[in-house]
Amino acid sequence: MERYNTDEISKLIRNRRSIFPPQYSGKIVKKEIVEEMLENANWAPTHKLTEPWRFTVFSGEGLKKLADFQAETYKKVSMENDTFNATKYDKLLSKPLLASHIIAIGMKRDEKNIVPEIEEIEAVACAVQNMYLTATAHGIGCYWGSGGITYFEEAKAFFDLGPEDRLLGFMYLGIPKDVTPKSRRNPIKTKVRWVE
Ligand SMILES: Cc1cc2nc3c(=O)[nH]c(=O)nc-3n(C[C@H](O)[C@H](O)[C@H](O)COP(=O)(O)O)c2cc1C
Repeated sequence: MERYNTDEISKLIRNRRSIFPPQYSGKIVKKEIVEEMLENANWAPTHKLTEPWRFTVFSGEGLKKLADFQAETYKKVSMENDTFNATKYDKLLSKPLLASHIIAIGMKRDEKNIVPEIEEIEAVACAVQNMYLTATAHGIGCYWGSGGITYFEEAKAFFDLGPEDRLLGFMYLGIPKDVTPKSRRNPIKTKVRWVE
C-alpha cells in the first residue's frame, strides 16, 4: 500500500480549526478549491456504499437567497410557537453574507433503509471532516454550524431533502483575515481504555 507523510497529515489534523464568518476577509474562495473539498467529501467511508451525503452550495447571489430563506423560515416557525427573537432573525439574515460560500449539509436516507440511520449521519460527518481538512490544507477558513434552521422540518425541501432525510447544518467558507485561532482538547488518555 502507498505511504504518506504522516508528520504532515498529523499536523494538518491537529492544526485544523473552525474559523467563523466575522474572521473572513470578504475575498472569494476559488471554485476549484470548493470542488476539491466536495470531491474529497465524496470519498468518505460509507457503510454498504450508500453515499448518503448531499450538498447544496451557495455563493454570490445564492448567499442572499439562503439568508432570506433561513430568516423567513425562522420567523414563520418561531412566530407560530411564540419564540421569535429579532436579534436571531437579523443574524440569520446577515451572517451568510460574510461567507464566500456556504455548503448546506444533508443526509439522504437510503430508500431500503439498509443501514441504521445513525450510520448515515456518521458517514456524512466523515465527509464533512474531509472538507474541513481540505480547506485547512489550502489555508481556507471554514466551520460547521448547526444552528438556525438546521433541525426545522420546514427547511428540508429548500435543500432538496425529503421527510426521511436530514439537514445537518452548514459549512461556512471564507478566506481568513490574519487570525490564529486556538482550541483545546483534554488528553486522549482520558478517553481511551486499553485492554491488553
Ligand atoms: C456537528 C457539529 C456542529 C457544530 N455546530 C456549531 C454551531 O452551531 N456553532 C458554532 O459556533 N460551532 C459549531 N461547531 C464547531 C465547534 O464549535 C468547533 O468544532 C469547536 O469549537 C472546536 O473548535 P475547532 O473545530 O477549531 O477544533 C460544530 C461542530 C460540529 C462537529
